[in-house]
Amino acid sequence: MPIAPPLAPMVARLEGGPAAAWAVTLRGEAEKRRGRAILDLGVGDPDFATPPVIVEAMERAVRAGRTHYAPAEGEPALREAIARTTAASTGTAVDPAQVHVFPGAQAALFATLMVTVAPGDEVIVLDPVYTTYPRCILAIGAVPVTVPLDPAEGFALDVGRIEAAITPKTRAVMINSPGNPTGAVFEAAAIDALAALCTDRGLWLVSDEVYAGLVLDGSHHSPLASPAGAATTIVVNSLSKSHAMTGWRIGWAVAPLPVAKALRSLSSSLLYGVNQFVQDAAVTALTDPVAIAAAAAMTTRIRTRRDAFVQALATSNTVRCHVPQGGMFVLVDVTGTGQSGIDFADGLLDQEAMVVVPGEAFGAASARHLRVGLMAEPATLIDAASRLSRHAGRSGAQR
Ligand SMILES: Cc1ncc(COP(=O)(O)O)c(C=O)c1O
Repeated sequence: MPIAPPLAPMVARLEGGPAAAWAVTLRGEAEKRRGRAILDLGVGDPDFATPPVIVEAMERAVRAGRTHYAPAEGEPALREAIARTTAASTGTAVDPAQVHVFPGAQAALFATLMVTVAPGDEVIVLDPVYTTYPRCILAIGAVPVTVPLDPAEGFALDVGRIEAAITPKTRAVMINSPGNPTGAVFEAAAIDALAALCTDRGLWLVSDEVYAGLVLDGSHHSPLASPAGAATTIVVNSLSKSHAMTGWRIGWAVAPLPVAKALRSLSSSLLYGVNQFVQDAAVTALTDPVAIAAAAAMTTRIRTRRDAFVQALATSNTVRCHVPQGGMFVLVDVTGTGQSGIDFADGLLDQEAMVVVPGEAFGAASARHLRVGLMAEPATLIDAASRLSRHAGRSGAQR
């Protein structure tokens, strides 16, 4: 009788998560496969094509033979472009040696936690939280400690609540602004206060800025721009959302030098670098004026979509939007229907053939909400708002 060797305990920790909240997304996919016409606003993948100037740069690179191993830390030209872009947006000097290139922000987040947090440490995350954070933290044997954001305060950053959650075991704080799923853009003063708190208490501040290119109102402020930020902040970013490049898998971390050095050691064992031709295309994305203009045009289109959806839903007296200041999602509060987000989303799929993600997928603070992706043109989003209002009326009547 062969003895099946066990998997590492980490696997079970990676597989956790709020399965019930994602069931409706999976059901929607299955129904699509069976041929039902579904309006799917659940996915977090821009529906735009990658700007042609970036695709052409990749094609040129492949033809020029840029198909070999790249340095583990990234191609010098891309690291320089990232350093320059980050310095320009934060007003803080960034050495290219601080930049480490990854196949996407997700890999950068996990790698960052692996080199900064030890088993048994605590990592403060906000609620609502981007779904992968708790599992990454748990996978390395650390403990996620949740600090709620208040829907009544527009999911604003409350540094006092973070300070109150710090214990001798706290090692890092993770933030995401503009936020997924909230669309909140944290105020500069709050970010500065958090950066100062992390520096005072010797905590890493991991700032996930993948939506920084998609600011719809006001402006994004990175903790790297804070006077106190440079020593403890690790900024994670990518081209996935800003340049409609999710499938290219290209992102990065900008970190204090000892962290960047540790990331290189980890990458040398885990990744062995990122495709040269994708990195060349990424240089074009960050530096070519045509690519920069194309990214700005996508943000403008998302703003138009947001306005159309929010305005269309304003006529409902049962559900209401948290108007996002950034990112590509709208959180819709369905508390007025008396239903959970999960039940509402389930009914919405059954009765209106529309998929959204229940807020419960992101934590308790976004329960009784729905995350609606702005991944369709205004006319479709206006139709989506009608389906939502109609279903809310139906649900209200059922109460
Ligand atoms: C908040 C947040 N962080 C990170 C990621 C991962 O981005 P990437 O495609 O660059 O790995 C996502 C993707 O949806 C996200 O929403």
